[in-house]
Amino acid sequence: MNAAAAFDFSEQVVLVTGAGAGIGQGIAAAFHAARARVALGDLREAPLKRAAAALRDRVFAQTVDVRDEGSVTAFVAAAEKELGPVAIVVANAGIYPNTPVLEMDVAEWDRVMETNARGVFLTCRAAARSMVARGAPGKIITISSGAYASGRPGAAHYCASKAAVVMFTKVLAMELASARINVNCIAPGFVRVDSEVSPLTEEYVSTLTRGIPLGRAGTPADIADAALFLASPYADYVTGEVLGVNGGAMAGRAHLPLSTAAAQKKESTR
Ligand SMILES: NC(=O)c1ccc[n+]([C@@H]2O[C@H](COP(=O)([O-])OP(=O)(O)OC[C@H]3O[C@@H](n4cnc5c(N)ncnc54)[C@H](O)[C@@H]3O)[C@@H](O)[C@H]2O)c1
Repeated sequence: MNAAAAFDFSEQVVLVTGAGAGIGQGIAAAFHAARARVALGDLREAPLKRAAAALRDRVFAQTVDVRDEGSVTAFVAAAEKELGPVAIVVANAGIYPNTPVLEMDVAEWDRVMETNARGVFLTCRAAARSMVARGAPGKIITISSGAYASGRPGAAHYCASKAAVVMFTKVLAMELASARINVNCIAPGFVRVDSEVSPLTEEYVSTLTRGIPLGRAGTPADIADAALFLASPYADYVTGEVLGVNGGAMAGRAHLPLSTAAAQKKESTR
């Protein structure tokens, strides 16, 4: 397969939620640079408008609340009317507030589950219904997190929601396989985005970054690269998978010292 052709998304419509900022904005920009027509959806109008204006052409933007069935259906319909049938979907919108379980109120639990889990379900369902009705193949990508497999304090709702995304992805992949629609999940590690919606403390960020074997935080472009791969013909035989993009952070306990005195001595004389 010709690599340049495989990553040329001309004439393809790519729909991305949470595209006004952070990882979603980076993914939308990467597909746009690869010549796709891109539909950007986000809850916040001002960042959404800025993200769309930065791309200038081959772009459609509409505010959407991924928690709301009618809003998601209207977004997908409007995107298709404006740009054409959606071929690639990235269900990215998500939030990550932090509260220990004993202090967490029901509203916060619901907000996280509704945005991160229900939002992915609604986005994928709306797009997949359109693909299936047309008999068209497609690529669906969900955004989970390393948090689906590795917990951290204050993130019970977030971790649960991201585990839900993984299992949703696997089941949807089976259900849509005969329709030639691939469904895969990206599980990013820490990606520096300076989120306005879910701000992180510097202490958390520096502690987290120290535990990444490749020695740096991820960027939205790192995640976009994985999305381009999963949307490309190179991933035609990949479905129901979770692709970790995390600088090695999920490989194990990289912060541990060597385990024997002899090994430590050898290392110190190197
Ligand atoms: N940044 C990280 O380290 C990291 C790591 C793993 C996974 N993720 C996941 O990546 C995705 C993007 O995160 P980010 O770091 O870019 O966050 P971000 O806050 O920078 O961007 C998320 C965007 O989603 C939008 N959004 C929030 N609720 C929405 C709703 N109900 N409907 C529509 N849009 C909504 C926000 O307005 C925002 O623009 C999330 O699913 C997040 O859980 C992020």
